Amino acid sequence: MSSVEIYEVGPRDGLQNEARLIPTAEKVALIDLLSRAGFRRIEVASFVSPKWVPQMADSAEVMAQITRAPGVIYGALTPNMKGYEAARTARADEVAIFASASEGFSKANLNATIAESLERFAPVAEAAKRDGIALRGYVSCVTDCPFDGPVAPAAVARVVAALRDMGCHEVSLGDTIGQGNPNTIDAMLAAVLEELPPDRLAGHYHDTNGRALENIGASLARGLRVFDAAVGGLGGCPYAPGAAGNVATESVAAYLAAEGYDCALDSGLLAQAATMARAMRGQGEQA
Ligand code: HMG
Ligand code: MG
Repeated sequence: MSSVEIYEVGPRDGLQNEARLIPTAEKVALIDLLSRAGFRRIEVASFVSPKWVPQMADSAEVMAQITRAPGVIYGALTPNMKGYEAARTARADEVAIFASASEGFSKANLNATIAESLERFAPVAEAAKRDGIALRGYVSCVTDCPFDGPVAPAAVARVVAALRDMGCHEVSLGDTIGQGNPNTIDAMLAAVLEELPPDRLAGHYHDTNGRALENIGASLARGLRVFDAAVGGLGGCPYAPGAAGNVATESVAAYLAAEGYDCALDSGLLAQAATMARAMRGQGEQA
């Protein structure tokens, strides 16, 4: 059976969008449960400006209080050197720099043009290399932007190439507002695969239109074997109007199993974590 990794991003991409300020202890409890469910990597923190994303302001406390499971890699977003230093102090195993393929979203999310954001990431990439911390890259708006509309595959490929050249071992392709479909995802991948092989790419699909699983299917056909997902379908991005809902980890796991892929997760613990995640956003009673 061919294996696929689900990169759990719920504690970061999921929770960052919640309006209620979630107590640190609740975040820690969710991460500790996820740590036992079999994930190889969990994105648990985001060292961004607390003025921009107040929900992630306790990232250092979260990382200090979790019980780290042996072998699990704990990741964090780092938009600049200030964020990188905080992530290193918090002992993040992997840091992620995050760019956009569209100018409109880059401005809204990072207060910078794409070129300015890449300049800001360069010292982070150098420091991560020097410190031996794994560096991941994200590209947002890989098919559609909430401000600029459809995004050209070539624009995505350009940013992927820049992140590769900075030393990202993997680039995660974000359908930030869940507007992609198998055709637009496939066209985007065709361009991106000219720059990076499929074993260095991840699919990060939001499920706003209910098409994330189909988009994962299109990506599997192109050879991708890592997918980001958020337990309980938590999520969104505060700077992307309409970005509600990362694809739910438990749905991706069930889909992959039905397609004959193994993602080595404990389904009982995953179900418990999904219930906990839904309760955290006040939707515990929903299916
Ligand atoms: P800015 O306002 O242009 O920057 O923000 P600044 O340098 O002028 O800083 C403003 C204030 O923030 C200053 O504080 C800085 O010290 C502080 P003040 O002097 O006013 O008191 N600051 C920080 N504090 C803590 N940690 C830091 C940090 N940096 C500055 N790292 C900035 C620029 C990049 C900081 C801002 O735009 C920002 O934080 N943006 C992050 C937005 C964000 O987190 N979005 C969600 C994550 S991306 C996402 O979800 C998409 C993804 O899932 C993939 C997909 O779905 O497509 C990854
Ligand atoms: Mg996202």
